[in-house]
Amino acid sequence: MTIWYGGDYNPEQWPREVWDEDVTLMRRGGISLATVAVFSWARLEPRPGEYDFGWLDDVLDTLHAGGIRVDLATATASPPPWLAKLHPETLPVTEDGVRLAVGSRQQYCPSSPVYREYARRLVERLVERYAGHPALELWHVNNEYGCHVHHCYCDASAAAFRGWLEARYGSIEELNRAWGTAFWSQRYDSFDEVDPPRAAPTFRNPTQLLDFDRFSSDELLACYRAEVEVIRAASDVPITTNFMGFFKPADYWKWAKEVDVVSDDAYPDPADPLSTPYAAMLRDLMRSLGGGAPWILMEQAPSAVNWRERNAPKAPGQMRAWSYQAVARGADGILFFQWRQSAAGSEKFHSGMVPHGGTDTRVWREIEEMGGELAQLSRPEVGLAGSRVASNVAIALDWESWWALEQPASPTAVAYQEVLFAWHVALTSLGLAVDFVRADQDLSAYRVVVAPAHFVLTDAQSANLAAYAEAGGSLVVGFATGVVDADLHVHLGGYVGGERLRGTLGVRVEEFAPPAAPDLRATGGGEAPPVALAGDVFDGDAVGTVWAEVVHATDAEVLATFVDGALAGSPAVTRRTTGGDSGGSGWYVATLPEPGALTELVGRIATEAGVELPSGLPAVGGTVEVVQRGPVVIAINHGDEGAILELDGTDLLTGAEARGLWLGPQGVAVVSRA
Ligand code: GAL
Ligand code: ZN
Repeated sequence: MTIWYGGDYNPEQWPREVWDEDVTLMRRGGISLATVAVFSWARLEPRPGEYDFGWLDDVLDTLHAGGIRVDLATATASPPPWLAKLHPETLPVTEDGVRLAVGSRQQYCPSSPVYREYARRLVERLVERYAGHPALELWHVNNEYGCHVHHCYCDASAAAFRGWLEARYGSIEELNRAWGTAFWSQRYDSFDEVDPPRAAPTFRNPTQLLDFDRFSSDELLACYRAEVEVIRAASDVPITTNFMGFFKPADYWKWAKEVDVVSDDAYPDPADPLSTPYAAMLRDLMRSLGGGAPWILMEQAPSAVNWRERNAPKAPGQMRAWSYQAVARGADGILFFQWRQSAAGSEKFHSGMVPHGGTDTRVWREIEEMGGELAQLSRPEVGLAGSRVASNVAIALDWESWWALEQPASPTAVAYQEVLFAWHVALTSLGLAVDFVRADQDLSAYRVVVAPAHFVLTDAQSANLAAYAEAGGSLVVGFATGVVDADLHVHLGGYVGGERLRGTLGVRVEEFAPPAAPDLRATGGGEAPPVALAGDVFDGDAVGTVWAEVVHATDAEVLATFVDGALAGSPAVTRRTTGGDSGGSGWYVATLPEPGALTELVGRIATEAGVELPSGLPAVGGTVEVVQRGPVVIAINHGDEGAILELDGTDLLTGAEARGLWLGPQGVAVVSRA
């Protein structure tokens, strides 16, 4: 076991003599893993059916001679221009009917049988040639599936969508029922009449939209599976494909089951003060997708990116600080895009590990230092590589709710990710380690499970959440949960779907009353004004945002109420004790309390659930992140000022005995408590 260190290596951009220098430098920088051939299709197959592997043999052999392991990509992420000339139908089409052109990347329709066939042939040849290569450590299928093209509306996609719908519904009557086509004269007489939700006069059928989201995620996954099948037939080497954090178009719960190791690409914006807590959430997701197993940070920027409007470099030390954040939250690999900064092409102003300025640069010095440290920390006696993060608090995450809640024609606009983020921040700011879970998985390992805005709720999910609370867990259900079923049909008789779950919580939601302001410029919704809240669960004045609703506490204690207007006195936070002696509880929160208030509430919930809140750490709050992973505590100061930590143990980076630690800005301590 080791903590991998490296990055995307695209040597085809450089003359041969640079490759030797690359490997010399990689050794100096402590690089152990290079991702090769991500965008090499045009070079590997310059003309249809004509393959040129000589140069890639050379690359792999050169890396191998330098002791560098290879994460070999299947090169199918960007087809060569000839494919589009030969088969224009492989080019994707937008919902407005625009066919996308060659000249950038990823210009393929995921449903195109022609694309899939050419991709399969290429992968077959690659596997045949390199399955036995001694440098091979990992297969890297495609690259960032769906990054640019995640929904395709072409005729091939339409045909595939019809097939997918037929498999799901069996009959057109069943589709008509599920989609509610009795409204607005949408009845279909046969599957042949059904199309993808292309641009239309006004709101498209909600279930059609949701099914197209499901289908589009599945189609990309089918591309992945097709390649995996080819690889598996000839190689036992682990397989991954790089995820993109909270990437809406791909239901990673489904995907994660099919990778041998989860890997992720993350580009937090150094100019955004929320990037650090947001990145913490990304890392927690990646760990959770793999069921707690170590994952690989497959791509991050050494410094600036070049695809935002304004591109801030990482502050001195920030690359290191964020890398340790990933390690602390379960990563066993820190890799970058890309090794040598390009001199030409669309990403020449995106930072590289070896910058334009060469090795006499801050970026290179930081790269080298980090490589040295990770090699140190990879020693088996440290016990960090391969270790896990223990957590007894979880947030339920659901892609279908994300897709459905953010559709137009909803009760009010809600940014699903922001709701999750608010809960994650509240929990982590108490020093708690947080996992993400599915509402229908085994939840018994957790003391507290929060289900925020779980808009789509199936009977199985609803029953599982109820059973969790009844068995002694503390279940926290947030607003906009259980509003519709998997067909997007409303749960009638009061929201929070499932009679049993309603009973567990002891509430019934009668009406939504989201705070709203007049939209004077008619741009689609004004800022939501805050709503005042009152109750002992908050230390003082509290406000909610985003949402409010009319809740009846049928069998629950009301711990906070709304204060103003028609909702005055109406429940905002309720709790029902469940599970008899086992002390479970069912909380309901009908708004999104603002950060301070939400942290107070969460602190109360966690304490009542018997979750121990870490104390004494950190001495300076807010900007210092402290995470225990296996036998090691990693503390990172993301702030602008120094901080003192009450932490005893051996500092594994300096070898010093730590009794209270001083951490400067971007400072990191890795402390063994064994
Ligand atoms: C990722 C992609 C890389 C590179 C990187 C930096 O999305 O996988 O190939 O483009 O972004 O922009
Ligand atoms: Zn298509």
